[in-house]
Amino acid sequence: MSTPVLEVEQLTKRYPKLTALDAVSLSIPPGEIFALLGPNGAGKTTLIATVCGTAKKTSGRIRLFGKDLDVDPLTPRYDVGLVPQEINFDPFFSVRESLRIQQGYYGRTRDDARIDEVLSALNLLSKADAQTRALSGGMKRRLLIAKALVHRPKLVFLDEPTAGVDVELRRDLWAYVRTLRTQGTTVVLTTHYLEEAEELADRVGIIDRGKLLLVENKSTLMKRLGERHLEVRFSSPVPEIPAGALHGQAQLSEGGMLFRYIERYDGPPAATLLAALYSAQLPIADVAIKPARLEDILLHVLHNNGLTAEGLPALGGAAAR
Ligand SMILES: Nc1ncnc2c1ncn2[C@@H]1O[C@H](COP(=O)(O)OP(=O)(O)O)[C@@H](O)[C@H]1O
Ligand SMILES: [Mg+2]
Repeated sequence: MSTPVLEVEQLTKRYPKLTALDAVSLSIPPGEIFALLGPNGAGKTTLIATVCGTAKKTSGRIRLFGKDLDVDPLTPRYDVGLVPQEINFDPFFSVRESLRIQQGYYGRTRDDARIDEVLSALNLLSKADAQTRALSGGMKRRLLIAKALVHRPKLVFLDEPTAGVDVELRRDLWAYVRTLRTQGTTVVLTTHYLEEAEELADRVGIIDRGKLLLVENKSTLMKRLGERHLEVRFSSPVPEIPAGALHGQAQLSEGGMLFRYIERYDGPPAATLLAALYSAQLPIADVAIKPARLEDILLHVLHNNGLTAEGLPALGGAAAR
């Protein structure tokens, strides 16, 4: 097996009044898109900060590209890019200048072709010579992403890169993350938009109050804990569910006008029940299937971890879909 891009072992970060990371262990192989999910205050940014060196770990081990950061805190970090949660750049440079500075800062020689490539991928080329302080909020966010990528990092952290940005930037960023994947770049993403993780992630980790609760392949997780909802509407009342569609959570409501079924991994597929309704020649007027959502799975896992109702709004945009 190839060396993991990032390995943390028993990583702990304590503040005087709280433990932000509690013995987190995690290993991320090259080329993976890993989504770290959890409510506000879970420890996502802290995890990223300890790896990037903007916060000091209390204990535990961090290896980047196989190198222990306690032994060499600097060289491995040259191959890491970070899109921080907060906008933080010097307003007195042009977009192009600030990207050149970034290349130098990460020990790279000047590479204007790379700057153009990144600017173009992020739709910023027309702003290359604009002063960064003159950029709109959305453009500033695009520049933050450009800065994190301009030195061709092998590992990129995207810490809520699309919080509060427009749909267009979100789409551009998703497209660019896919390009990065084809180039073999490893991406660690934290996000409030569960749709984003659903769309992009290979693997998902769920963190709550400093503890990593679960790490699992996204598709496996969606199959294991995801629920698809089948709803069939009839044009006239149906007296009872036909035998072939009579399973666990199947139910008739609205006076026999609506049939509902929740498909789980351990029950029959919705399609089997639907086929039974058709064979029974019921007066089907409309069929809807709602796909499983990562958001529901996250809420389920957090709920089982004792997250109370007042903790749930901390998921921010998660409920928006
Ligand atoms: N400098 C700090 N001093 C004290 N507590 C902090 C500091 N930075 C973060 N925290 C706390 O650590 C916890 C984890 O924060 P953070 O990693 O930012 O969460 P997330 O990114 O998942 O929303 C929170 O309770 C936060 O208030
Ligand atoms: Mg954060």
